[in-house]
Amino acid sequence: MKEGKKDGRAPARHPDTTVVNAGRDPASYHGFVNPPVYHASTVLYPAAEDYLAHRARYQYGRRGTPTTEALERALQELEGPQCAGVALLPSGLAAISAALISILHAGDHLLVADSVYGPTRSFCDQILSRLGVTTTYYDPLIGGAIAGLIQPNTRAVFVESPGSLSFEMQDVPAIVAAAHGKDALVLMDNTWATPLYFRALDFGVDLSIHAGTKYFGGHADVMLGMVAANAAAVASLKNNVRLSGLCVGPDDVYLGLRGLRTLAVRLERHYSAGLAVARWLAQRPEVLSVLHPALETHPGHALWKRDFTGACGLFSVVFRPVPQQAVHAFLDTLELFGIGASWGGYESLAIPFDCTGMRTATRWAPGGPTVRFHIGLEAVDDLIADLERGFAALAVAARA
Ligand SMILES: Cc1ncc(COP(=O)(O)O)c(C=O)c1O
Repeated sequence: MKEGKKDGRAPARHPDTTVVNAGRDPASYHGFVNPPVYHASTVLYPAAEDYLAHRARYQYGRRGTPTTEALERALQELEGPQCAGVALLPSGLAAISAALISILHAGDHLLVADSVYGPTRSFCDQILSRLGVTTTYYDPLIGGAIAGLIQPNTRAVFVESPGSLSFEMQDVPAIVAAAHGKDALVLMDNTWATPLYFRALDFGVDLSIHAGTKYFGGHADVMLGMVAANAAAVASLKNNVRLSGLCVGPDDVYLGLRGLRTLAVRLERHYSAGLAVARWLAQRPEVLSVLHPALETHPGHALWKRDFTGACGLFSVVFRPVPQQAVHAFLDTLELFGIGASWGGYESLAIPFDCTGMRTATRWAPGGPTVRFHIGLEAVDDLIADLERGFAALAVAARA
């Protein structure tokens, strides 16, 4: 972007170009490529009258700075023409709760996918319930039949596709059609695909939620959440965030913006390396199935192919039945895979998990112990060599 060329006037461009240029305005910052990090609370006014009339471009650090605006503008452009505005939150979970609170009132009913991120479920069960909102969990594979679960007071449907442990793909357009047909809004946790691989608002989703902590940050060093809203949802989202006093520290906003600039190249690598490792795992005798939507064998593959343009580095594997200690031996032997939950950084991860206690509408019975992998930016051959060592340790432990 040349100095002096203002953001927002450009014709529609490839998203890879958008992540590089959106939200940048070097002319406003003496030609420097990136905006400064404004550490700011108080804004000073030239005169008392200006103060009383709120005559200022910025009014208070909590309400926004050039740094927060740069990230908001960038995400808005990336989310496409349906995006009417963006809110920044201090974590992905805060983005989920702010989005829900912004549209729900006492007496409302909410439908949530049974495969949803665990803490989203806890927020619904422990906070929304206190505020007089009831939640019903539904089978993530329900598709358009969700119409049958919509009650007169159903205000919203929450989707997450794929589920970030179990990887069920949801028929988002069918759910949107059913929900909108009955005046309910649709929220989506779109952290897995990011707007680069699934632009949720184009599919009719009203509130698209991202844990910026994951791929936007990309370096396991920031907590950040973002909500993008369409015209139907933006006013209440922005108002709720403003009234609640929610804001993000300037350094974290900057890290989100900095991560965004390389999101497309990083995701491309997570996608190709993730798929390569998934395919390698799928042919291992120790593996019962690989839960990766981009694999032809995945039950949700047709939906993924129809709606998504890529996949990130996160997927799960079902091992053939072995004692849990053998799975632990596998994980403990890996050197390149950290044992940790928050994915989307440059590094590979692997964790054991069990969804059994997290389901109320469906039964989790994958047929063996389960491990979730995040494939980072390391060389695939090195990751596979590490996994081979893990499988050797698993065999020893399984015989013990
Ligand atoms: C799918 C999904 N959504 C939301 C979150 C929450 O993000 P954060 O950890 O930034 O609160 C996570 C975190 O693991 C996640 O996996």
